Amino acid sequence: MNPYLPQAAEIMEIKRLSKDVKSFIVRFTDKEAMHSFKFMVGQFVMVSLWGVGESPISITSPPHEEDYLELCIKDAGRLTHYIHQLTNGDRIGIRGPYGNHFPLERLTRRDLLLAAGGIGIAPIRSVAAEVIRNRDLYNKVTIIYGARTPSDLIYSKELRKACLENNIRLLLTVDKGNNSWKGKTGFVSELCSELDLTTTIASALICGPHLMMESVTGRLINLGFSEDQIFLSLERQMRCGVGKCGHCYVNGKFVCEDGPVFNYSAIKRFL
Ligand SMILES: Cc1cc2nc3c(=O)[nH]c(=O)nc-3n(C[C@H](O)[C@H](O)[C@H](O)COP(=O)(O)OP(=O)(O)OC[C@H]3O[C@@H](n4cnc5c(N)ncnc54)[C@H](O)[C@@H]3O)c2cc1C
Ligand code: FES
Repeated sequence: MNPYLPQAAEIMEIKRLSKDVKSFIVRFTDKEAMHSFKFMVGQFVMVSLWGVGESPISITSPPHEEDYLELCIKDAGRLTHYIHQLTNGDRIGIRGPYGNHFPLERLTRRDLLLAAGGIGIAPIRSVAAEVIRNRDLYNKVTIIYGARTPSDLIYSKELRKACLENNIRLLLTVDKGNNSWKGKTGFVSELCSELDLTTTIASALICGPHLMMESVTGRLINLGFSEDQIFLSLERQMRCGVGKCGHCYVNGKFVCEDGPVFNYSAIKRFL
């Protein structure tokens, strides 16, 4: 696939996940493009609508799912709002995959913490599926995930079931509960005090809003996590996605090419 050229993809299914997030199951209209599309967990694609614009979106389906891609999109602005108006059978443009990935292949036999805040669950869901697929390769696994309210916790039913079946600890929290919410209330970082991972052999993979990543990382360092075992997926506004326009440049790094996943020790000065 030419990385500069958007390929047409058809929307097969749309699920509303919360008031402002929908998931889109898409398939390239060209069978060969679908067949040859390979990606790693944490990579993203540039999603476009002709005449409207283009935005980076993580792939939330797992890499072993070769028949379709799932994209989980928050209605955050102009392009994403247009995408939210689409229906089954409509087409979008997709180019990629871009960026590096969460280095799961280097984390075997370690304890794993997957931490997500808000729409940051999109790439973490793909990571979790891959961990589950190779569950025997990892020690203790914990997922912590927080959202604003109970109805903003997306994929939570699916996560609960998968974690129960695969010996993974799942800790959920919301900033603000409601009458039916029996779970925890507070920021994701507060869940770190409940971790029972062996920090000397633990790695953390994190995606979420800037402040969430900063506070979770701070807690993990205090708990004894090593800086080079904390991996964060950064968000920066992008244009080309391929290291040419400089739009995502920060402190000598292109988030689109050198990231979006960075080791904390490499980026702590500009996080
Ligand atoms: C690597 C990567 C993966 C992403 N994965 C997902 C995903 O899976 N699902 C999802 O819903 N969103 C994801 N995003 C964020 C998504 O790209 C932005 O929300 C989207 O670009 C908004 O586009 P828009 O044209 O609809 O909004 P705009 O009208 O351009 O902007 C809406 C608001 O969001 C801010 N904004 C726009 N783009 C970004 C950005 N890239 N980073 C931070 N703030 C931004 C703007 O400043 C503005 O406040 C990802 C971003 C990156 C960099
Ligand atoms: S988005 Fe163009 S250089 Fe990264």
